[in-house]
Amino acid sequence: MTNDKKLIIGLFGFGVVGEGIYRVLKQTPTLQAEIKKICIRHPEKKRNAPAELFTTDAELLLNDADINVIVELIDDSDAAWEIVSASLGSGKAVVSANKKMIAAHLAELLQLQLDNNTSLLYEAAVCGSIPVIRNLEEYYDNDMLNSVSGIINGSTNYILTRMNEDGMAYDEALKLAQQLGFAESDPTLDVLGTDAANKLAIILNHAYGIVSDPADIMCKGITQLHPADSVYAREKGYSIKLVARAQRVNHTDVAAYVLPTFVGPRSQLFNVRFEFNGVIIGTRLADEQFIYGKGAGRYPTSSAVLSDIAALRYGYKYEYKKSHTGVDYQVSDNHVLRLYVSCRDINDIVQDDFISIDETYSSQDRKYITGSISFDKLRNAAWLNNPDNSVIVFENPGVAEDHQLEELV
Ligand code: HSE
Repeated sequence: MTNDKKLIIGLFGFGVVGEGIYRVLKQTPTLQAEIKKICIRHPEKKRNAPAELFTTDAELLLNDADINVIVELIDDSDAAWEIVSASLGSGKAVVSANKKMIAAHLAELLQLQLDNNTSLLYEAAVCGSIPVIRNLEEYYDNDMLNSVSGIINGSTNYILTRMNEDGMAYDEALKLAQQLGFAESDPTLDVLGTDAANKLAIILNHAYGIVSDPADIMCKGITQLHPADSVYAREKGYSIKLVARAQRVNHTDVAAYVLPTFVGPRSQLFNVRFEFNGVIIGTRLADEQFIYGKGAGRYPTSSAVLSDIAALRYGYKYEYKKSHTGVDYQVSDNHVLRLYVSCRDINDIVQDDFISIDETYSSQDRKYITGSISFDKLRNAAWLNNPDNSVIVFENPGVAEDHQLEELV
């Protein structure tokens, strides 16, 4: 696709982001991108756009030879896969924000793009408005990455901020996140950490060339957090954040998880509040860099979709450069975390699972242990899944052993 070619768009979905991009494109005529048809599931809903634009017939968009770009913004990941695979298969370029679908079908999507010499862009799928993927692909294509970690789910960050700063109850904060259009239509994806794990699976590919099954990424959300955990955090000067982390632990192994995390005031993540996301990129040469912005919501997400549409004007494709570095990175459980576990009954926690214990505390209502534990042990611990137990990891700078700058000289 070249600069002189007008982008004729078939849009799937007219929800929070779909309507957002429709409005934004109307206000960006210089882009020369026109929405020809919008496919929706519920024709009975009142829409803020001319009725003739809408259809419920997906084939009308998929078989329209004039439509050269499909923008897929629906929340049903199975239907999204059907749409996106059919579109790529017929040589149309695709912009998608569907992290669940992309994470689940990454290997097939890579192949479809190659086989059909077409482009799938999905900046909006990871951290809303923050250009994480494009940065990992283009800017950090040579400097070896030690870690990519951050707050990559806006809803949970919004809920935690409301609860900790305004004393709001969990249910009320979640309801607000839904009303504001931050949460998934199934909000359990947000609060259980699954949405962040899907995004982390995509990051793992663009940072390390790893194609992982998102279901294998260990994730704990915010539902098991207990009010006593906030008391502990306040006493120690921490903030509790849901952090996703990909961390190189040696030449080939990468730790990957989504866990509630104690973040100290010196961390860039400490002041990431509400629906904002923040990602710290740890590199071998540049040390740490931090990117920050709104991770959810109509217009922030639309901005990433708009940027992807604009990139199609000059035929932009991800090259998946990290898959061709010659280093075969893999996700590994072979690393150690510093952990806090709070519980109702200390006997629920198998203390022998820990490599070492730093502190134990017991009050009438709540007990806790802090210590070091191998990730492998933690992942397989039965007590981890007891809803009475809350697990929080200490933010771990865990520098890879071959990170030393001396190696460079
Ligand atoms: N539910 C997602 C979030 C939307 O809260 O981050 C943006 O991906």
